[in-house]
Amino acid sequence: MTITRREVLGGGAAAMALGAELAAAARADVPADTAGTIAVRLHVNGKRRDLNLDARVTVLDALRDHLHLTGSKKGCDQGQCGACTVLIDGRRVLSCLTLAVSVSGRKIVTIEGLAASNGQLHPMQQAFIDQDGFQCGYCTPGQILSAVACVKEGHADTDDEIREFMSGNLCRCGAYPKIVAAIKQARDHMDSA
Ligand code: FES
Ligand code: FES
Repeated sequence: MTITRREVLGGGAAAMALGAELAAAARADVPADTAGTIAVRLHVNGKRRDLNLDARVTVLDALRDHLHLTGSKKGCDQGQCGACTVLIDGRRVLSCLTLAVSVSGRKIVTIEGLAASNGQLHPMQQAFIDQDGFQCGYCTPGQILSAVACVKEGHADTDDEIREFMSGNLCRCGAYPKIVAAIKQARDHMDSA
């Protein structure tokens, strides 16, 4: 079939036929039941989770939409707010910018997995409550996980250092002074955490 540039730009019947041909050719290479998915094994909060995911699915969407762990929040979905922060192998990671297939087999901790198995809160969770370190709470799961890593990295010695190393986590409610207070409280109780 010969299609002129004018026909394509005009979006006429010939262009639609070409689109259908291309789509059919693309589908022919992919088995219908696994079209576009990849087997991914995630380790989330101590449990193995096997999923079939589109290669473009982020860790954040895998957690929220496939595993129904909605504690990790989607604020901006482009790496600017920190609401989606999780720990992967102990390091803080923006889950909205990380593809699930790239962390297969690595250990992910979300806010749902931070407390002890007997229900006792992590010292950072308790400190956020004690210090009133939140208002609406939307940024709080990301703040808490980032704060845990901030302390473990050794970046929580002074208020200025805490503010600098927590600067990737935004709070629209402006709870920053109390977040700093919470991190200082938790810092002294985290060796045993
Ligand atoms: S949702 Fe990931 S940084 Fe904002
Ligand atoms: S507590 Fe509302 S955005 Fe931080």
